[in-house]
Amino acid sequence: MIIIPGPASQILGIKVANLININKIQVKFKDFPDGEHYIKIENGEKIKNQDVIIIQSTYSPQNDNLMELLMILDGTKNLKPKSITLIVPYLCYSRQDKRFLEGEPLTAEIVCKIIEKIGDPLLEKFITIDIHSEKILDYFSKSIEVKNLSAMPLFGKYFKNLNLKNPCVIAPDEGALKRSKIVADLINADCNFLTKKRDLNTGEISTQIKDLSIENRDVIFTDDIISTGGTMARAIEMAKNQGANNIYAVCTHPLLIQNAKYRIFQAGAKEIVGTDCIPSECSKISVAPLLADFLTK
Ligand code: R5P
Repeated sequence: MIIIPGPASQILGIKVANLININKIQVKFKDFPDGEHYIKIENGEKIKNQDVIIIQSTYSPQNDNLMELLMILDGTKNLKPKSITLIVPYLCYSRQDKRFLEGEPLTAEIVCKIIEKIGDPLLEKFITIDIHSEKILDYFSKSIEVKNLSAMPLFGKYFKNLNLKNPCVIAPDEGALKRSKIVADLINADCNFLTKKRDLNTGEISTQIKDLSIENRDVIFTDDIISTGGTMARAIEMAKNQGANNIYAVCTHPLLIQNAKYRIFQAGAKEIVGTDCIPSECSKISVAPLLADFLTK
């Protein structure tokens, strides 16, 4: 087995390689003056007949990272490996998984389809982490084995060591409850979700937690993605108003665009805890052990 860490997942790729003790292959990359990318897989002869793992996350700038991923996939395929496993810790466009309005493209499907087309016939496995909706993986054909790993047990481990005060874990909506329950069970905490209510006169949206008092308790809000921070900031403000103690904003994919960090701390968070699916100053947890475990199973 040999691993190729793409430009967007260099450190994570090296960590995985070190954990499972496999060789790494370097990718040479640069941009041309007009903005087009250039990719070259170094020491290509080492790839022939090998089981190759490519790892490249597709966070912002997602179009560039996705294009580089496709270029690495094509370049690798051409070097005649035995098989390719592709790890995309954060899959871009996964929130565009429905045609909300007529005339809209199904962008999540487009992404899966191009990846499959470029990887064909050597792409055997596709691995991602806490994908926004597992249904997206159905866009791959059955000839590719797909796996959505969960980073939630890693968060459970992190919070177990913090000695929290009567903690509870809250999902931002009912759909995210399953993920949040994994963290809650590991730290023996209550778990619940937020409901949204729209004021019919003003149109204003307010959030509330049904049937759970959070007064004087430490609260962990868990989500798959924090993008602008709006969802988290609203939840944190509500928790503050209800007398919560320390509040943690947790997500697998800390996109943290614009002033997301400011909004979340301004709302009253004690900490933002993310993973290195997207490298950031809030990526306090590495998913490398999760990937290493899966790859060696
Ligand atoms: C939405 O369905 C996702 O799970 C997140 O809640 C959302 O992407 C967060 O976005 P933002 O940080 O911009 O509120």
